[in-house]
Amino acid sequence: MTDQKYVFYGTIIDTPDPSTLRIRKEHICVVNKGRIELIQPFANRNLDEHQDVTFIHLSESQFICPGFVDLHCHAPQYRQAGSATEVPLLEWLRKFTFPNEARCSDPLYARDLYTKLVSRLLRNGTTTTQYFATIHLEATKILAEICQEKGQRAYIGKVCADQNSPDFYVETTDESIRNTEELIHYVHQMQKGRDVAGMNALIHPVITPRFIPTCSINLLSQLGQLAKKHDVHVQSHIAETADEVAFVHDLYPSIGNGRDVAIFRETGLLTSKAVFAHGIYLADNEVDEMVASGSAVASCPIANFLFSKGLTAIEHCTKRGLNVGLGTDIGGAYASSMLPVMRAAVFAHRTMDFVSFDRSHAALPCFPEHKDAVIDFKFAYYLATLGGARALNIDSQIGSFEVEKQFDALLIDCNVESQAFDYWKDDEMDILFEKWMNAGDDRNIAGVWVQGVKVG
Ligand code: GUN
Ligand code: FE
Repeated sequence: MTDQKYVFYGTIIDTPDPSTLRIRKEHICVVNKGRIELIQPFANRNLDEHQDVTFIHLSESQFICPGFVDLHCHAPQYRQAGSATEVPLLEWLRKFTFPNEARCSDPLYARDLYTKLVSRLLRNGTTTTQYFATIHLEATKILAEICQEKGQRAYIGKVCADQNSPDFYVETTDESIRNTEELIHYVHQMQKGRDVAGMNALIHPVITPRFIPTCSINLLSQLGQLAKKHDVHVQSHIAETADEVAFVHDLYPSIGNGRDVAIFRETGLLTSKAVFAHGIYLADNEVDEMVASGSAVASCPIANFLFSKGLTAIEHCTKRGLNVGLGTDIGGAYASSMLPVMRAAVFAHRTMDFVSFDRSHAALPCFPEHKDAVIDFKFAYYLATLGGARALNIDSQIGSFEVEKQFDALLIDCNVESQAFDYWKDDEMDILFEKWMNAGDDRNIAGVWVQGVKVG
């Protein structure tokens, strides 16, 4: 499968930057051993050169585009996604989420749930996901195995929480560190096996303090040391809601002024491999500090509408140099597909034209007004592909179609039976692409590839 060579002929679409929808019509894209070997305009001689390989001729209603990167997804919460959407964050965690996540102490339950989730995400075109699992080592290993088996690129963390959690869903500091390090070793072993098979690593370990309130400073500091020792990725939540920000300030008023960004910095977790979900209640100097550290934000617009009473100022942050991508935030949000997430990102920024946020309840430093900030469908697609890849430091490998990059791609067909919108033959490719993004769904996804391997 991996050394198979094949050639697409037709339209290739990607977003090499936030304002460019690059449409390469009548091109060939040669994929060899999982990588893009060549992209060039079609000429008849191409056919002779590639006689021995599989030739995939795309029709006028079809194009290929990069697969989605979901930067922030809680795997166990797939079970609850779509419910309890009217409850504030801290109450939602206590009443619904901790009891739900605790069920993953049963490996059989976790295997069934994670199998369903990963299949669903691949079907929706998500070729890379950064996951929070639960505090359970065994179930987290199972998630890693399922992603490897099904062929999804995955960044996977065992959740760490040694305080402010119920008795049935908490660990000691030592357990948290020991199990995190064991997960790192386990995933690194998995990577070695794949190297032998001639493929690059698909699965990566992530150090995952849930959020500052559930972590002692001792735990955060030891996790910071582990991040350095093993040079691995980090993920957490940052400045998500006014309640959360106030809670952190009450807990640790003397560490970095009681602010999330400073506490992550002081404990060694604000690294160039760190991705923090949300980042709504950030002051400009904190954004600048994140930029200087090379860390990134996963904006989760659906969850932000439901929990945060605010939005990630994506355009403002990207202009200041911050790497931003998008996340589903299953199951604080209800969608498992990145299509509604991209639409929500567009809507969120439209509301900035006419809503002035009341941040007075938290007495927080805030952004200046964001009038005229525009996120359109191109920008949103960029965020969901190359933006997410940049946040994970893998934009030299995936996120757009360039020679030498790995082939993580979707084949979209805008003329399939019972799709959600009608097809007109005379629509140009840019119109077809925009219609799929705004009105289409997984029924239009006719093929999904990760590292050149067809996975769905
Ligand atoms: N903060 C801490 N845990 C969570 C979680 O599971 N979801 C969201 N959205 N925020 C959190
Ligand atoms: Fe989250």
